[in-house]
Amino acid sequence: MSHNLEAHNLDEEALAILKKNDRGGFTIPTARLYPFQWNWDSAFIAIGLATFDQDRAWRELELLVEGQARDGMIPHIIFRKDDSDYFPGPSVWQTNGGGLSASGISQPPVLASVVAKFAQEQGEGSLDRAAALFDAMLAWHRWWHRDRTPDGCPVVCTVHPWETGRDNCPDWNIGMNNMAIDPQLEAYQRKDIEHADPSQRPSHEQYDKYITIVKFGRDHGWDQKVLTNDGPFLMADPGIFFILLRADRDLLWLARKLGKDVAAAEIEGWIADAEANADYFWNADVGAYCARDVRTGEFSEGFSNASALCFYAGIKDQTRLASTIAHMKRIAAKTRFGQSSWDPDLASFESQRYWCGPLWCQMNYMIAAGLAEHGETDMADKMRDDLRSVIELSGFYECFDPVDGSGCIGTDFSWTAALWLAWASPSSVAPTASGQEAANGLN
Ligand code: DGY
Repeated sequence: MSHNLEAHNLDEEALAILKKNDRGGFTIPTARLYPFQWNWDSAFIAIGLATFDQDRAWRELELLVEGQARDGMIPHIIFRKDDSDYFPGPSVWQTNGGGLSASGISQPPVLASVVAKFAQEQGEGSLDRAAALFDAMLAWHRWWHRDRTPDGCPVVCTVHPWETGRDNCPDWNIGMNNMAIDPQLEAYQRKDIEHADPSQRPSHEQYDKYITIVKFGRDHGWDQKVLTNDGPFLMADPGIFFILLRADRDLLWLARKLGKDVAAAEIEGWIADAEANADYFWNADVGAYCARDVRTGEFSEGFSNASALCFYAGIKDQTRLASTIAHMKRIAAKTRFGQSSWDPDLASFESQRYWCGPLWCQMNYMIAAGLAEHGETDMADKMRDDLRSVIELSGFYECFDPVDGSGCIGTDFSWTAALWLAWASPSSVAPTASGQEAANGLN
């Protein structure tokens, strides 16, 4: 579909989408398909909100933190109240972790990087608001390092494809194939395929497994250590690992800025551990950082857009970075709009199915930030220009076909509108290259 540029001012359209999806201090990703507050969505949405209303941007993050559970986890969905448009809603999750009605798993921890970015850009006046969020962010990062790091495993892991944010990426096939659908699974009705094209969404078998994991968590009272150590699915995700490593660096910057020495020492320990163990993800056969099944040690076979986040995490191994760049160039030659979420040279690539191929704006944004810091400014600019092109071509979709640029799944999508305003729009003033303090804050 071609978006009529003559008839629409895309900046105004993006603003209107964020306004329309505002539910009073927090923003839903899109009506009907995702009618609640999603964790990493809100972090990216805040970046867009800050281009025109800094107070409202902070509010987005503060309301996200309101959903924090007693154990420190910030959940991937904060429900507040039920909505019959969505499955699985609060009556399926049945969490009891404190805070608001929410899901029982988390999502990639981008929050601290956004808070650091705001603190750097908005100056001393913003430090009070950053300080007010600091303990919650520290507790959440501690939760990842304690409750999502299985006994005996050197790296942070995940228990559910939804927790990675990359739901049906073929990265998870190994873990999904190694688990069984619970025979006691209650009958359920999917809602997502009523609101979006089913051919672009996960399969029914995948959904049965997603709900099997939710049932396990519920049956075990959402004891997160049990879910991590003994749950049906346990994989290590380079996406979560790299995003957390970056967020730990940004949290460390904040800790120092706020004079929190004890916290800073704890965070330094997490960073040192992650730097020492990044090679856990290195798949020598592929020559890339890949997802891995923790129990069998088996690697995923493919280069995903999460593999490309190594620059963003501040990985310094030049041989591994060069191999990653070679993959990105190979893939760019096969797709018109980068970075695809999965490798187009693999049979499992599907250009329009959710995380099996499409380009995602928030991934491009983080990959570009890392590339720019690494000095690869041409590649970083291409990430932004490709996002600009697909939005100009198709509008504010959830994600985009990297081959023909058509929009996929959700429409009027908040993070796409937000990152248009903050980064992809020709009127955006944000540089792709970091002009800020080294290795801190999304740029
Ligand atoms: C969904 O409902 O598809 C979401 O991705 C789960 O977070």
